[in-house]
Amino acid sequence: MTILITGSAGFIGNNFCIDFAKKFKNTKIISIDNINSYYSKKIKFNRLKRLKNFKNIKFFKIDLKNKLKLEKLFKKYKFKEVYNFAAQAGVRYSEKNPHAYIDSNITGFLNLIELSKKSNVKKFFFASSSSVYGDSKRFPLSENEKLYPKNFYGMTKKLNEDIAKRFFDDYKFKSVGLRFFTVFGEWGRPDMFLIKYLNAAYNKKIFYLNNYGDHIRDFTYINDVTNLIIKLRKKKITGPDIYNICSNKPIHLKKVIKLLIPDTPIVKIKKLGFQKADVYKTHGNNNKIKKKISFKRFTNFNLALSKTHEWFKSNYKMFK
Ligand SMILES: NC(=O)c1ccc[n+]([C@@H]2O[C@H](COP(=O)([O-])OP(=O)(O)OC[C@H]3O[C@@H](n4cnc5c(N)ncnc54)[C@H](O)[C@@H]3O)[C@@H](O)[C@H]2O)c1
Repeated sequence: MTILITGSAGFIGNNFCIDFAKKFKNTKIISIDNINSYYSKKIKFNRLKRLKNFKNIKFFKIDLKNKLKLEKLFKKYKFKEVYNFAAQAGVRYSEKNPHAYIDSNITGFLNLIELSKKSNVKKFFFASSSSVYGDSKRFPLSENEKLYPKNFYGMTKKLNEDIAKRFFDDYKFKSVGLRFFTVFGEWGRPDMFLIKYLNAAYNKKIFYLNNYGDHIRDFTYINDVTNLIIKLRKKKITGPDIYNICSNKPIHLKKVIKLLIPDTPIVKIKKLGFQKADVYKTHGNNNKIKKKISFKRFTNFNLALSKTHEWFKSNYKMFK
């Protein structure tokens, strides 16, 4: 069997490729990414190097916007499953660069789901985001909560879910949308809070702390994320399914910094006010996914934090 994984130079896509390749040695994985420069390409090339250790993973530099190239890929490999992690990520960047989000998250997403439907793909999984909830406050947020995205990024993710629903209503094409909540861990993203903090500590940069650190996030460890998706893959898809992918254990950013301080070099912190694209708190209800796959235990936050920290210490030069 051959499957397609997009965004394989990115944080989640890269870790997912590796987890999948280890667990299913007989599955051929075609992975793609456009290696954009939203953040350091050095990190992306290093992630791609990891994929070379697996005989069952092949990488192509392809942009989701390039329908012709994608079409050729689908014709050649006849994918049975598609996992879409490629997207223009980032909340604040979306305020100034909306076109990048329309291009990758809307045009690119539509190309992919259209070709998947046309090629009779059996399992279509795609990354959505907790950003679709916006400022909804009925915590913990469950999947049937009303969606009020408060930034351009969240809006494109909501539209992905709407497109997936359209494809089900019109063509009975089934899909699974994964609403990720602040994923962190080894090989994490340098534009997100935790790696940004570690980067400031070990590479002596200024750390810009938004809203004076007064934010709460439902941190979710990358190994739990890839594990959950692989377990979910074995279950029947019933329609345009949607799952929160979160630990249901929100933590104050100030507390995370306090946990890190004793073991990290001193960080120069510059405090900033509230950024209007940000939400104050994310906290998801994860009963639906836990029940579906009988998943009991998420990795302890302190353990996941220390593993990420250890990894960063050995790799800090990559982030210079
Ligand atoms: N990391 C999180 O906490 C988080 C939270 C919510 C949602 N998500 C979503 O999960 C997915 C993966 O996120 P990530 O953290 O790995 O982000 P990432 O930026 O590290 O990875 C995305 C990858 O997609 C590639 N890409 C972007 N546009 C592309 C295009 N048009 N064609 C081909 N490749 C393209 C990028 O080069 C990048 O390598 C994204 O859809 C993101 O929006 C992530």
